[in-house]
Amino acid sequence: MTVLSGKRILLIIGGGIAAYKSLDLIRRLKERGASVRGVLTKAGAEFVTPLSVSGLTGDKVYADLFSLTDEAEMGHIQLSRDADLLVVAPATADLMAKMAQGLASDLASTALLATDKPVLIAPAMNVRMWQHPATRRNRAQLEADGVLVVGPNDGAMACGEFGPGRMAEPMEIVAAIERALGEHRDLPPPAAVQQLSGPRPLAGRHVLVTSGPTHEPIDPVRYIANRSSGKQGHAIAAAAAEAGARVTLVSGPVTIADPDGVTVVQVETAREMLAAVEAALPADVAIFAAAVADWRVARSADEKIKKDGSGPPSLAMVENPDILATVAQHTEQRPGLVIGFAAETETVIDHARAKLARKRCDLIVANDVSPETGIMGGDRNTVHLVSPDSIETWPELPKTEVARRLIAAIAARVTR
Ligand SMILES: Cc1cc2nc3c(=O)[nH]c(=O)nc-3n(C[C@H](O)[C@H](O)[C@H](O)COP(=O)(O)O)c2cc1C
Repeated sequence: MTVLSGKRILLIIGGGIAAYKSLDLIRRLKERGASVRGVLTKAGAEFVTPLSVSGLTGDKVYADLFSLTDEAEMGHIQLSRDADLLVVAPATADLMAKMAQGLASDLASTALLATDKPVLIAPAMNVRMWQHPATRRNRAQLEADGVLVVGPNDGAMACGEFGPGRMAEPMEIVAAIERALGEHRDLPPPAAVQQLSGPRPLAGRHVLVTSGPTHEPIDPVRYIANRSSGKQGHAIAAAAAEAGARVTLVSGPVTIADPDGVTVVQVETAREMLAAVEAALPADVAIFAAAVADWRVARSADEKIKKDGSGPPSLAMVENPDILATVAQHTEQRPGLVIGFAAETETVIDHARAKLARKRCDLIVANDVSPETGIMGGDRNTVHLVSPDSIETWPELPKTEVARRLIAAIAARVTR
């Protein structure tokens, strides 16, 4: 049994390139025991065929508001009321505008207006369309109306541009659906959902986040680094901004895009990261997600080290400053909540507990980064939230979702 067993999802597929991902979404939902009924907009049918949708749902596809048979058999009102949840994926700019305006000009928009059930949208569009003031207004209106939103994600887009606008991945949408239908009630709801029911929980707070690896130079062209991608730290910064915080993100060298609405300070080495963190204080919350190199080369060479036949150079190493411990033990400017990450490859929780005590921080987010977990550089994470008096183990989740839950847990502590 899963939370989706027996649940009825009305999936509205709009006219965007991401419509192909909705076919996979149908499969994922059905694998988990949900029944899915598909509504294709006219534009949606330009991207995926009714045959594909109906083949996967095992039901007919609904497309026409003025279909005599559909109206006789079911009716557009029935269609929207027979579902437990309405999901719009992809939610195009056009569909979001129709929903925000309360238009009922085709079957999809009419079903959305007629429903008395929760609605979840997965926006997908070109980055400029997403950032356009009209779309921002529509999104804000929809959130104010109680519509749940998952994504969009940052990344390369089909149109060749880069930035926020990619539809959330099918499994991220499944996780949002499970949440909307009430799974994980024991866990804090994501910040995005909290925002719907009240003011943004971190409004007026300054949240400092570190992310990515550090690069420690050996000579002007070589350096020591690690496999951190920055995806988890950047997602945390984005979630904190979504929750209303003013966010400073101190990032080591990464290849992913800066999150929206966040001040980014780019650094290379651990020492530069510490300096940028100290310059950004005071903060209400500090989250240290960066994978900071523990050691650096004692004296990096000013010129490229040559292979001159005298054998490999020996590199003397010295310890880097401990950024987490420095800030957690700050006498004047210790943030109210200091959170560290523990990336371990064995006895994860024991190490996390020891680190919590040693560094004197308030929470440790612990994860197993053994190569077989695929966490370093991957899109998913399984974490344990370790505090002095409790351990919460979260299921495997997209990093964006781990970020939202972490921010919700932080908001609960900050506003307590
Ligand atoms: C090739 C192509 C790709 C498109 N991709 C998107 C998209 O990803 N997101 C979006 O909002 N609109 C996109 N559009 C525009 C929509 O298809 C158009 O606004 C349409 O009216 C939306 O209809 P709907 O409300 O049924 O979704 C695209 C159009 C074309 C021709």
